[in-house]
Amino acid sequence: MRGLRALLGLGLLVGGARLAVRADTCLRTAGVGSAQCRKYRAGGAMEGGPKFLSQAEAQAVDEELFNEYKFSVDQLMELAGLSCATAIAKAYPVSSFTSNLPTVLVVCGPGNNGGDGLVCARHLKLFGYEPAIFYPKRPNKSLFENLTTQCQKMDIPFLSEFPQEAEVIDGAYNLVVDAIFGFSFKGAVREPFGTILSTLKHITIPIASVDIPSGWDVEKGNPDGIQPDMLISLTAPKQSAVHFSGRYHYLGGRFVPKALEKKYNLNLPTYPDTECVRKLP
Ligand SMILES: NC(=O)c1ccc[n+]([C@@H]2O[C@H](COP(=O)([O-])OP(=O)(O)OC[C@H]3O[C@@H](n4cnc5c(N)ncnc54)[C@H](OP(=O)(O)O)[C@@H]3O)[C@@H](O)[C@H]2O)c1
Ligand SMILES: *[C@@H]1O[C@H](CO)[C@@H](O)[C@H](O)[C@H]1NC(C)=O
Ligand SMILES: *[C@@H]1O[C@H](CO)[C@@H](O)[C@H](O)[C@H]1NC(C)=O
Repeated sequence: MRGLRALLGLGLLVGGARLAVRADTCLRTAGVGSAQCRKYRAGGAMEGGPKFLSQAEAQAVDEELFNEYKFSVDQLMELAGLSCATAIAKAYPVSSFTSNLPTVLVVCGPGNNGGDGLVCARHLKLFGYEPAIFYPKRPNKSLFENLTTQCQKMDIPFLSEFPQEAEVIDGAYNLVVDAIFGFSFKGAVREPFGTILSTLKHITIPIASVDIPSGWDVEKGNPDGIQPDMLISLTAPKQSAVHFSGRYHYLGGRFVPKALEKKYNLNLPTYPDTECVRKLP
C-alpha cells in the first residue's frame, strides 16, 4: 500500500483529505440535503459559488499569473479569447441566427480586453461566424499588431468608422461582442468610446461582454450603461457581475493553477470534462 501511495504521489492523499473536509463543512453548515450540498456532490459548483473579485483583487491575480507563475500575456489572451468564442457559440449557435449570414460585430478597446476581442473574433471566424472588427485605438505593441495581422489575413474586415445609428448595427449584425474595457477601467469614459457606448445602448441585437460590461464600474456596475445579454467572466467573476441581468453568464479562462485559486479563495466551480467554459447560474 505504501508503495502504491508513493507511486501515485502525495497529491492524491492531500486531495482526498481536502475532499473530506469539504464534505464535512457541507454537513455542518448547509445540511446534507440542501441544494448546495446536492450541487457539490453532483460535481457542480462548490459550496457558496465562486468569489466575485474587487478591482484590486483582479489586478493582483493578474500580476501573479505573469510575475510568479510566468505565463505570458499572449498565452492567457489566447485562452481567454477562445473561451469567449466558445461561450458565444454555445449561447448563440450559428443556426440560431435568422439572417443568412452569421455576422458579428466585435468592438475592441485599447487594452488587453481588446486583445481578447481580437482572439475571440479569430476563433468565431473558425467556428463559422462572419465577424467584423472595430478597433479605433490600437496600441503600438507587436502583440496587438500581430493579432491584428492574423485577423486581416483571415479576411476579417476592420471597419474604418463606427456606425452612428443603432438601426444600422441592428440591420447588419446579429450580435455585438463588447471587448472595449475590462478590469482596468476607471473613471468617466473617454472618447471615442463614449459615443460608441451611447450607440450600443440603443441597439436591439444582443451584446456579449468580455469580462465586464464596458462602461460599468468594475465593482459597482452601471445602471445607466449598456445591459448585455451575455457576460463571459474571465478567470473569476468581478463584483459588478452581481448586477448582470442578461440571460447568459459564463465563466472562462480555465488556466488558474490550484495554488493561486486557493491563495485568493476563488472557490472556482469545476469545468465539465475538457470544456474551456462553464455556464454560471
Ligand atoms: N491576466 C488575467 O487575469 C487575464 C486573463 C485573461 C484575460 N484578461 C483580460 O485583460 C483585461 C484587463 O486588461 P488591461 O489591464 O489591459 O485593461 P483593460 O480593462 O483592457 O483596459 C485598459 C485600457 O482601457 C483604457 N481605459 C481605462 N479607463 C478608461 C476610460 N475611463 N475611458 C477610456 N479609456 C479607458 C486604458 O487607457 P489608459 O492607459 O489611457 O488609461 C487602457 O488602454 C481583463 O478584463 C481581461 O479581459 C486578463
Ligand atoms: C512604436 O514603437 C516603436 C518602438 O517599439 C517606436 O520606434 C515607434 O516610434 C513607435 N511609433 C509610434 C507611432 O509611437
Ligand atoms: C510578433 O511577431 C513577430 C514575428 O513577426 C515576433 O518577432 C514578435 O515576438 C511577435 N510579438 C509578440 C508579442 O509575440
